[in-house]
Amino acid sequence: MDDDVVLSAPLFATMEREETARLFESMTQIELARGEVLFREGEPGDRLYVIGEGKIKLGRRSNDGRENLLSILGPGEMFGELSLFDPGPRTATASAVSEAVVHELGHQQLVAWIETHPGVATHMLNALARRLRRTNETLADLVFSDVPGRVAKALLDLSHRFGETTDEGLRVAHDLTQEELAQLVGASRETVNKALADFAARGWVRREGRAVVLLDLERLERRAR
Ligand code: CMP
Repeated sequence: MDDDVVLSAPLFATMEREETARLFESMTQIELARGEVLFREGEPGDRLYVIGEGKIKLGRRSNDGRENLLSILGPGEMFGELSLFDPGPRTATASAVSEAVVHELGHQQLVAWIETHPGVATHMLNALARRLRRTNETLADLVFSDVPGRVAKALLDLSHRFGETTDEGLRVAHDLTQEELAQLVGASRETVNKALADFAARGWVRREGRAVVLLDLERLERRAR
């Protein structure tokens, strides 16, 4: 595992390496198989998680069974903090998109950590503020942007987290099925598929199963605006 990625999480920011290592060691490590659910929306929860390896999806389900994905998170990112800071049920279901390793921290441990290291709170607020900013943008896109625009934006967003530079372009191994990609964009699988096929026909992307290579970032960025 890449400890450095985990130790760069907001939870550990600006801390002395030894202290950080001690907290990290006190966290419980949980291994998840693809598709495994860590916790469900509505359950009580008082634990925070930091991703060590793999990808975690956060999703909500409507009363009629439709699913919407709020976010796909990768190594170094945290989740589960909402029910911890604002005691109440989990606001989303967390499950593994790929094999994953997460590190769990309990409420008492976190409170003690923040009390002795107030700087950590600033970093966590920063991460929460970034998340709210992004959520507001997604909300506006759902109202103001068309599906191809949202698909372009989702691909660019995933590329910031999971993109790898190759000779051909930016390869994004998102590990999502077509259905999951559609749930992330908030549209039907058919419409999302059509947008992707159109991008591929224009030479902006190349599709590769559960990955996509972004060939023309400039055009995609323009389409995402
Ligand atoms: P919690 O409510 O404890 O459990 C579900 C978690 O999903 C939540 O904490 C946040 O960490 C995360 N989450 C909820 N909403 C969003 C969002 N809009 N964007 C990213 N992560 C979210």
